[in-house]
Amino acid sequence: MRKIDVFDTTLRDGEQSPGVSLTQEEKLEIARQLARLGVDIIEAGFAASSKGDFEAVKRIANEVRGVSICSLSRSVQSDIEQAWEALKGAEHPRIHVFLATSPIHMQYKLRMTPEQVLEQTDAAVRLARKFVSDVEFSAEDAGRSEPDFLVKVAEVAAKAGATVFNVPDTVGYLTPAEYANLFRYIRENAKGIENLKLSAHCHDDLGLAAANTLAAIEAGIDQVEGTINGIGERAGNVALEEVALALETRRNIYQATFGFDLSQIARTSRLVSKLTGMVVQPNKAIVGANAFAHESGIHQDGMLKEKSTYEIIRPETVGMADTKLVLGKHSGRHAFKDHITSLGYELDGEALNVVFRKFKELCDKKKYVTDEDILSLLLEYE
Ligand code: KIV
Ligand code: ZN
Repeated sequence: MRKIDVFDTTLRDGEQSPGVSLTQEEKLEIARQLARLGVDIIEAGFAASSKGDFEAVKRIANEVRGVSICSLSRSVQSDIEQAWEALKGAEHPRIHVFLATSPIHMQYKLRMTPEQVLEQTDAAVRLARKFVSDVEFSAEDAGRSEPDFLVKVAEVAAKAGATVFNVPDTVGYLTPAEYANLFRYIRENAKGIENLKLSAHCHDDLGLAAANTLAAIEAGIDQVEGTINGIGERAGNVALEEVALALETRRNIYQATFGFDLSQIARTSRLVSKLTGMVVQPNKAIVGANAFAHESGIHQDGMLKEKSTYEIIRPETVGMADTKLVLGKHSGRHAFKDHITSLGYELDGEALNVVFRKFKELCDKKKYVTDEDILSLLLEYE
């Protein structure tokens, strides 16, 4: 089983979600939980972006052990120096420098020529390497960059001493096949990058972030970047828990692992949701409130007979409460009987039919039928 490094950016790209701002204490609490989950690198923030971020990166670097701590940095001297100042206390510090490489970004945002981008890549990585032995370079908007130019950037970054070359699909534009081919192209054509780790960083603008990340894994990449619950700029980053469970559930295909303690997933998701205020949608894969809930009669009947009929993951694997058989208008007699037994009532035959009919009538009138509603139906019948 191939081990993929996990670079968690919940505290940096995740915090870039509109409306999210975490305090130093909150960031530290999330960082500790990420370490418990088993991520390899925590991007604790962007030290040069604000005093608050600088202090948060410093605190996490000083206090969280057993995992690499990273700060984002533009490819400019002052940012790189501040990143190092904040990271000094880390057990394993990493500086993450980035510079855009797509024609659109180089022309309109940077107003730089490709040659200038190559020079700045070289200078930034060399400077960062004076401070730390682990330097990641990100070719921002790689998804819309010329593959041949990315090859040159990767070569320059590797020669300057980068350890990781990140290929972000910054605006979530690529399809899975395109993203996988881009990695293969870089690996096959760039010279002198044998020791350079390749990293995937996907955004979810077209809802393809998990599919793209998995395609990159199939193309042989070494590191995955993402966030918990998929929070992040615009439509968010790839949700790490989704990729982790895809690797686990479809081992036969990917033969790769994040090495997570999967039972920590629900706890991590709840903590991030609580502290960021970003509610997890009920139907969210893996961690949504409905991810292990079954409402229709046919499904509930199947679940009562054998759980693998409608569940490919057991809720306890990810630390979620047990499967929920939700009673609603699609529920069957079998699940209803099972539920009232759990409430302490034993009904069969005609008695069960009467109460079940009343329950169905109530379901057509009320959106949520609670246990109290069911108990009052049972009392009425008694
Ligand atoms: O999406 C992106 O390009 C980024 C970079 C800073 C890595 O977040
Ligand atoms: Zn990003």
